[in-house]
Amino acid sequence: MYVCLCQAVKDSEVRQAVASGVEDVDQLAEALGVGTGCGSCRDFAQSLIDEALDESLAYAA
Ligand code: FES
Repeated sequence: MYVCLCQAVKDSEVRQAVASGVEDVDQLAEALGVGTGCGSCRDFAQSLIDEALDESLAYAA
């Protein structure tokens, strides 16, 4: 599933970026360019990041 159509970034790539240390949408923009086009994906991208962070915390516990 695409998270950011402008940059053709998929949710699997967002999860990988979170696994490599990305914690918010600004860092994701630097890493993958998400949100640097029309910007309409930023809220959804942030919720995906939060979800992935929650999952990684659950694994760590
Ligand atoms: Fe991500 Fe446009 S869909 S910047």
